[in-house]
Amino acid sequence: TIGTNQAAKAAGKLYFGSATDNPYLNEDATYKAILSNTSLFGQLSPENAMKWDATEPEQGVFTFTNGDAIVALAQANGQIMRGHNTVWGSQLPSWVSSSGFNNATLISVMQNHVSTVIGHYKGKIWDVVNEPFNEDGSFASNVFFDTIGPTYIDLALQAARKADPNAKLYINDFNIEGEGTKATAMANLVSGLKSRGIPIDGVGLESHFILGELPTTIQAQMEAFTALGVEVAVTELDIRMTLPETNALLARQQTDYETVISACNAVEKCVGVTIWEYTDKYSWVPGTFAGQGAADPWDEKSVVDVDYAQYEGIFDPN
Ligand code: G3I
Repeated sequence: TIGTNQAAKAAGKLYFGSATDNPYLNEDATYKAILSNTSLFGQLSPENAMKWDATEPEQGVFTFTNGDAIVALAQANGQIMRGHNTVWGSQLPSWVSSSGFNNATLISVMQNHVSTVIGHYKGKIWDVVNEPFNEDGSFASNVFFDTIGPTYIDLALQAARKADPNAKLYINDFNIEGEGTKATAMANLVSGLKSRGIPIDGVGLESHFILGELPTTIQAQMEAFTALGVEVAVTELDIRMTLPETNALLARQQTDYETVISACNAVEKCVGVTIWEYTDKYSWVPGTFAGQGAADPWDEKSVVDVDYAQYEGIFDPN
């Protein structure tokens, strides 16, 4: 067993955790009970509840009900919370994305959002800036970059630190898990932030992988980031396959999961691994990639997918 909170703690990590969302927590008691088992999961990430469209749907009107419900569950269970996320080009209400705000106004709108949300959820690990890069390592176009320029990242991190000096501040992205142009761009951003004295504590490696197509340099890239003086975390791990699933594909998937978790275990400043939902029942994958799925360790019936006689189950709760 390697993919449980108990195993993560034994390996010296802070947690092994899962993303979750309010509809499933409200409607599915079995799902909630498994998620609340701290031998399995020591950390929760809100899939949607803390995003801008959920927390500030109208300018200056903050709604924390769904996020608060997940925090309350984590607190009751004794689980660590990662906050996700404050500044991202997606899931923005139209009053932000199509506002036509000028530079100064959008800066103050962004600072107010970051400080209000992170000030409300104190003492957490936060994806302050989410997905700032294109695949070629250039900055992604979004209302913040297009209006403010790349300093939106500096300003968001500074607002976060000011709102909660104890929060851990991350930048989170995908396709930076192995060596390559996008990972180098992230490393250069982190070096630049450090040299400018901008607060940055960690890099989040989303890790939405395709079965059999993991980068071969995951551990090396983790070490390249931590050498810059930040921690890393695997923040959104899942490993999708073309359906239908077979036992052979699931066995291969288990090996791939083990590769990622082992890489984190081998890197001192990799603090933990979060899977982006523990069960296929609630995975985002089939809704986005037609014909693909079975990306999570637990199947549609929320049974551990992987307990074959020929292979020790790495997610085995027992
Ligand atoms: O809230 C509305 C609801 O009112 C409406 O009835 C329903 C009908 O489609 O949609 C609901 O919104 C959905 C939302 O999740 C909340 O459930 C959106 O359609 C749906 O697109 C959205 O998907 C989320 C996605 O981010 C959006 O970008 C996924 O649940 C979530 O897992 C996914 O997570 C992202 C991370 O934040 C960043 N990294 C990539 C990762 C996977 O895409």
